[in-house]
Amino acid sequence: MSAGQSIGIFDSGYGGLTVFKSIAKKLPQYNYIYLGDNARSPYGDHSFETVYQYTLECVEWLFAQGCPLVILACNTASAKALRSIQQRVLPVKYPNHRVLGVIRPTAEVIGNFTESKTIGILGTRGTINSESYLIEINKLFPEINVHQQSCPMWVPLVENNEHLDPGADYFVEKYINEIMAKDERIDCLLLACTHYPLLIPKIRTFLADGTVTLLGQGDIVADSLSKYLQKHPEITQKLGQDAKRNFYTSGDQVFFDKHASIFFGSDVSSRHVSHNSSQL
Ligand code: DGL
Repeated sequence: MSAGQSIGIFDSGYGGLTVFKSIAKKLPQYNYIYLGDNARSPYGDHSFETVYQYTLECVEWLFAQGCPLVILACNTASAKALRSIQQRVLPVKYPNHRVLGVIRPTAEVIGNFTESKTIGILGTRGTINSESYLIEINKLFPEINVHQQSCPMWVPLVENNEHLDPGADYFVEKYINEIMAKDERIDCLLLACTHYPLLIPKIRTFLADGTVTLLGQGDIVADSLSKYLQKHPEITQKLGQDAKRNFYTSGDQVFFDKHASIFFGSDVSSRHVSHNSSQL
């Protein structure tokens, strides 16, 4: 069993860097490999089969880099690919590897963030249509009323760094009004997409002061990973603790580095990995 291995963090593109930022803050000692599949993102509108295929390829690439544990830091991939990878692939091909997502850890704590027992979920079409949050929250907190809203224009706004400009107001207000009109008791909006935390200052301008909690997932996923590592020494003992961070993108690395710092909060220097080679 070789030591010195990394935790793999996967996202369709940049968004998972908001989750990685929280993980790196909570657990700075570990080695990490981040992979953004920018060449094929966004995943939000792709079919189940496509998201599954793309996610599996990227997870297998991270396994090949020596990651015994991969976090799907992407709601769409967690909603559409995680269960199949955990149930169909790992037991047969990778019995000693683990893949975790962002939906279950979020569902486990959602009850702490609502007094009215009424929440709104904002996500990509893929995440919302999968009903993954509805199903998980209903299992754990059947008393919570869950309303959903897909926000397909928000990822492009963030990816183009237009999310805080006046032009973003129309689509931010539109989706906030739509979800809040579903139930006046909503007191927590879950930002169930890795890009949405960057919109928080803008979203707040369309909500009455202090009435609604805007819940991002970074800290929730970081806490959950910390607990998981404590409970699973068979994984933790394989991990290197040299605080190494390696970033890879299937897209253009210069473009990635420029945009990635917006999501990660500090400079990122990535390497390109190609879909057209045996590398991925
Ligand atoms: N990372 C994705 C998510 O959290 C958003 C971007 C995409 O659609 O690929 O759902």
